[in-house]
Amino acid sequence: MCGIVGAVAERNITAILLEGLKRLEYRGYDSAGVAIFTNGGTLERTRRPGKVSELEQALENEPLAGRLGIAHTRWATHGAPCERNAHPHFAGDLAVVHNGIIENHETLRAQLKDLGYVFTSDTDTEVIAHLLEHKLKELGDLTVALKATVKELHGAYGLAVISAQQPDRLVAARSGSPLVIGLGMGENFLASDQLALRQVTDRFVYLEEGDIAEIRRESVQIWDVDGQAVERESVQYRDGAEAADKGEFRHYMLKEIHEQPAVVQRTLEGRLSQNQVLVQAFGPQAAELFAKVRNVQIVACGTSYHAGMVARYWLEELAGIPCQVEVASEFRYRKVVVQADTLFVTISQSGETADTLAALRNAKELGYLASLAICNVGISSLVRESDLTLLTQAGREIGVASTKAFTTQLVGLLLLTLSLGQVRGTLASGVEATLVEELRRLPSRLGEALAMDSTVEKIAELFAEKNHTLFLGRGAQFPVAMEGALKLKEISYIHAEAYPAGELKHGPLALVDNDMPVVTVAPNNELLEKLKSNLQEVRARGGELIVFADEQAGMTNGEGTHVVQMPHIHDILSPILYTIPLQLLSYYVAVLKGTDVDQPRNLAKSVTVE
Ligand code: AGP
Repeated sequence: MCGIVGAVAERNITAILLEGLKRLEYRGYDSAGVAIFTNGGTLERTRRPGKVSELEQALENEPLAGRLGIAHTRWATHGAPCERNAHPHFAGDLAVVHNGIIENHETLRAQLKDLGYVFTSDTDTEVIAHLLEHKLKELGDLTVALKATVKELHGAYGLAVISAQQPDRLVAARSGSPLVIGLGMGENFLASDQLALRQVTDRFVYLEEGDIAEIRRESVQIWDVDGQAVERESVQYRDGAEAADKGEFRHYMLKEIHEQPAVVQRTLEGRLSQNQVLVQAFGPQAAELFAKVRNVQIVACGTSYHAGMVARYWLEELAGIPCQVEVASEFRYRKVVVQADTLFVTISQSGETADTLAALRNAKELGYLASLAICNVGISSLVRESDLTLLTQAGREIGVASTKAFTTQLVGLLLLTLSLGQVRGTLASGVEATLVEELRRLPSRLGEALAMDSTVEKIAELFAEKNHTLFLGRGAQFPVAMEGALKLKEISYIHAEAYPAGELKHGPLALVDNDMPVVTVAPNNELLEKLKSNLQEVRARGGELIVFADEQAGMTNGEGTHVVQMPHIHDILSPILYTIPLQLLSYYVAVLKGTDVDQPRNLAKSVTVE
């Protein structure tokens, strides 16, 4: 989703802004722009539809140099992705960049037009620029004018503003869209994600909801939602910037798929005793709270929602706890009946997904027992606003298609299941010790699955010319099939649907012919024989089968049936293992189709708007 970078310094900041935008490319965008208060004393901008490299090229042809500037990558919401709609937006001698959506933009636009302001774009952001211009005329000070402006905005925003009238500062406002200030020596920066600034600083101040900031070279001042001046703590990262390169891999996605044994290992570290899960991994009050839990409500989006769906099977089967799972965009607008003693669990890679955050905020008003975030970003809104947290240790995920975040979420959710079962005494005897042992072995089992890389690459050839596919699974493998279908559609643009295999004859079987490959995962469990019958139904209609099957499942290649043998694994952990070949499959199909694997069209890494 959109990205913001800003700088106020004693040196030329154009290259810093461009580097920051490149580091935000993973979020997804369709145009980019920069505004600089130039050394010549004028406010200038360059904007381009397409990639940051095109903006960079334009700036090479016609350079802009200055010590104050803002930059933006835009993911179109209001108005097409063209130069006219790209940020920064100008109004008078102001430049504005904005992440989020202004819901009352039509009303404000009409009012501002009546006052004589002329609009040159279709964006909601330009409304902010003219409103600010209007307030600045009235109030004379940029920071004061920004404070007055945000009072009239409904919706979500992360804003950065500069003005040629007051070029000593950069001003910013946060409400619903994250912003972080990077602290330097005699220079300061702003971005929507600290990653954008790691080349210039390792010290950061995170703005909180409703904050306004005035950032000068030598000082930073922040006011909270009530207009009170506040000090916000700074954090320093000493871990060194995480490798943002692809290493030996052709794409970030492939690199991230192959990182899974290591990041699963990291997610388990410090969270297991010899034969138990350490409940305090969820926070000091976890044991006391978990003892009271009688139900679990999980809310998430996309891949994270699929992780939640797997967890429902675990929570009910292992811990005997009723569990509901819902996509956040539905949950947040529904009248929900809350059962007593329900733990509200959100799952998110980024911790900034607008719908998931809104669902959490609603849930806090609804009388849930407590909230728990399973999240990959420690300093995210979701983590800050939840009672309990379990951080997955997937490291930075750059590929828009989520891979290692999903498998580490599953590990986190299994730790949650075992913790709840342990504290409430509902686990069958010996189950926890067995699964702890299996979890310890999991990284090496994932390594074995990854070793099938070239086998899966060959299978991918079967899909290159196809337009539709069906993914089938039963039990906890149904959400794995959903995740497989999501991956394939996201990056190869092939239409993919997932069904519980038992639903086949209730409709989707009508679609099956020899042009629609059917992919399924078949661990050796009590549903195997039922799954085999479902697969016969597919073969009988000429459907071509691709089956990832347990080596002990007794399935072999046959006409129209391609079986890939998977290492045997404990059934509970099989959703984690069987995810790997489906990720590889979608990756290699996308490579064959020549799509943009890491930044698929129309998608953003972090969906910070509704
Ligand atoms: C997954 O491949 C997607 N890009 C997407 O579904 C993602 O999982 C979803 O937007 C939720 O994001 P989050 O985990 O950061 O909340």
